[in-house]
Amino acid sequence: MKKIAVLLSGRGSNFISIKKAVDAGEIDGEIAVVISNKADAKGLEFAKESGLNAVFVNPKDFDGREAYDTEIVRILEENGTELVCLAGFMRIISSVFVDAFRNRIINIHPSLLPSFKGLDAQKQALEYGVKFAGCTVHFVDEEMDNGAIILQSVVPVEQDDTEDDLCARILVEEHKLYPEVVRLFCADKLKVEGRRVVINL
Ligand code: GAR
Repeated sequence: MKKIAVLLSGRGSNFISIKKAVDAGEIDGEIAVVISNKADAKGLEFAKESGLNAVFVNPKDFDGREAYDTEIVRILEENGTELVCLAGFMRIISSVFVDAFRNRIINIHPSLLPSFKGLDAQKQALEYGVKFAGCTVHFVDEEMDNGAIILQSVVPVEQDDTEDDLCARILVEEHKLYPEVVRLFCADKLKVEGRRVVINL
């Protein structure tokens, strides 16, 4: 059973989807720690209410990104973390963190990468005029939204979509995709070969 850490900054709906799959026994893992950089993150509240080990790490207490990430790595190691899931964790992570957990950090991004990296990916997709959008779960490397892609889900973009419509349609897919990737990782089914991730089914 693998020890999973979830890092989040907000609502935490992806965290909840992973937790549900863990609770249902679909994932051979347990949530060892939930960490947030925001004291009032809804996801952190939910983790506390669920009796999980939930920690707020205040960026203001640290002198720069590397010092902050060194503390995150310390907490992760203290909890025996084997997989780190970034789930709406809205901070760029430094090489201190990436190096400590190489090929063991995954992230979900609400676009079909490599399109629309960065903030407001769904808005970027709408404004660009693409006909299909979606979400990506990928390994994390030193560059933002750049690491090897594990799985993607595609949704159509409808003519009259608002940003909220598209966000909601993608989110439904996020909540299926992320637990599935965590399941595959915990079952040792993922192999990274350069930029390509091979899934041993
Ligand atoms: C999700 O849509 C996730 O894909 C996105 O933030 C949202 C978090 O929602 N992540 C990014 O944009 C990362 N670049 P949640 O807190 O309800 O899981």
